[in-house]
Amino acid sequence: MAKVYVSDHPLVKHKLTHLRDKDTDPKKFRELIREITLLLAYEATRDLEVAPTKVETPLTTTVGYKLKEPIGLIPILRAGLGMVEGIWEMIPSAEVWHIGLFRDEQTLRPVAYYNRLPIHPTVSVCLFLDPMLATGGSAVKTVEILKAWGARRIKFMGLIAAPEGIEALSTQHPDVDIYVAAVDEHLNEIGYIVPGLGDAGDRQFGTG
Ligand code: PRP
Ligand code: URA
Repeated sequence: MAKVYVSDHPLVKHKLTHLRDKDTDPKKFRELIREITLLLAYEATRDLEVAPTKVETPLTTTVGYKLKEPIGLIPILRAGLGMVEGIWEMIPSAEVWHIGLFRDEQTLRPVAYYNRLPIHPTVSVCLFLDPMLATGGSAVKTVEILKAWGARRIKFMGLIAAPEGIEALSTQHPDVDIYVAAVDEHLNEIGYIVPGLGDAGDRQFGTG
C-alpha cells in the first residue's frame, strides 16, 4: 500500500497559507514553492540508502556516509518546474529529467507533449514533482511513463492534493509513496482543488 505523508510542520503550514493567498504575486509564489519543496524534501528523502565512506577531519579519520543510489528529479511541466530548485539544492548530484503533460480542459485527461527521459534509465530512485494532485490523472500517467521507461523506485512530491487524486494514484500505483504539504477538501466541477490555490502553472509564470 502506498505511504501517504502529509506534512504537519508549522513552517509548511505558514508558507502554504501565503501560497494559497490570491494576492501573492508570481515572484513570491515561486519563492514559496521552492521553500515548501525544501521542507518536504526532508521527509521524501528519509529512506534513501547511504554507503559508508572514510572522511578525514582535521583531527582524525572517521566513517561518514554518502548517498548510494543515483537520484532523478522529474518535474512535470509546467508547474513542477518551480519545485526543482528547492530539492536540487539538497541533492546537487541528482539528474533532472523533464516530462510535459497538460490537462485537457474538457475531459480533464492528461495529454503528454514532451519527454526528455533517456532511452535507458540512469537513476535508481525517481522523485517526480508536481504541485497539484487533482484528479490524479497526470500523476498516474507519469508513473506509467516512468515504469515503461524502467524506473524501479518512484515517489511523488506535491504541494496540494485532493482526496480524489490520492485515491487514484495510491490505488493504481500502490508502490508509489506520496509526499504532500496538504490534502484539501474536494475538486470542484471543473476539476480544481478547493480551497486549493488556483492554477499553479499560471500563478508561477504570470500567465492566465
Ligand atoms: C496541472 C498540475 C498537474 C495537473 C493536475 O497542470 O500541474 O500536472 O494539472 O491535475 P490532475 O491531477 O487532474 O491531472 P496543468 O494541466 O494545469 O498544466 P501546466 O502545469 O502546464 O499549467
Ligand atoms: N491544476 C492546478 O493548477 N490547480 C488545480 O486546482 C487543479 C489542477
